[in-house]
Amino acid sequence: MTMEWNAAEYEVLAAPMTGWGARLLGRVGLRGDEAALDAGCGTGRVTEMLLERLPEGSVLAVDASAAMVEAARGRFAGDRRVRVERVDLLELEVAEPVDLVLSTATFHWIHDHERLFGRLAAALKPGGRLVAQCGGYGNISRVRAVAREVMEEERFRPYFEGWEDPWNFAGEGETRARLEDAGFGEVEVWTHDEPTGFGSFGELARYLKTVVLGRHLEALPEGEDDAFVGRVASRLGEEGALVVDYARLNILARRVA
Ligand SMILES: C[S@@+](CC[C@H](N)C(=O)[O-])C[C@H]1O[C@@H](n2cnc3c(N)ncnc32)[C@H](O)[C@@H]1O
Repeated sequence: MTMEWNAAEYEVLAAPMTGWGARLLGRVGLRGDEAALDAGCGTGRVTEMLLERLPEGSVLAVDASAAMVEAARGRFAGDRRVRVERVDLLELEVAEPVDLVLSTATFHWIHDHERLFGRLAAALKPGGRLVAQCGGYGNISRVRAVAREVMEEERFRPYFEGWEDPWNFAGEGETRARLEDAGFGEVEVWTHDEPTGFGSFGELARYLKTVVLGRHLEALPEGEDDAFVGRVASRLGEEGALVVDYARLNILARRVA
């Protein structure tokens, strides 16, 4: 089951993901007339940068969240190059295969990467490219460990019985193997760190609430979410730094012809 997002808050807080998306896009040579798919487009901030590079192209932007889709539709209203659809990537089917699949900050929310990569390969023309970045092995280890400790506190423990960790922070080797099994070649996979600092406890708590801990908050009754997020942020602060210890998994690959 996919999660809902607070799109308005994400739009305001997504600067880290947007910056990483810009750098990833900078690695991609484009003619400008490609048909592209943005897999997990969110509110469309990275999609917008892709569109700047595709004056004669088109983008199918898909996302599983109704709120994100509504926000992206609003952003691109009137732009005939863009179509925004609410789609679970595990069920993705496209009418016309595309030249490029771009995806940022999305794959780690999906457990079944074998199926995901299979759906993306099927959406690409032979020779089409996959360009993606998501949370990789070791991503937010410190935040994750602190969140686990807070989940164990008496106040919160009852709500997390049977709760499952939402993330799939895959490693390089397993990702390469899954991509090759799904029909990709010319695979490049690497991980890099992106420690991201916040100026105050309040900024960190606001960010964690919308961008990182949404699945945790779904488990809590109304009114407990700010208390939970506040505990995680203050524990992180007590440990020395208002930092989210991101590690990003980068993927460049081409669908085998
Ligand atoms: C952190 S946001 C990233 C949005 C945008 N790509 C960016 O870089 O700012 C993750 C997005 O992945 C979407 N998502 C998660 N699982 C998905 C799935 N199975 N199918 C489609 N979208 C999914 C979420 O709804 C959310 O909009």
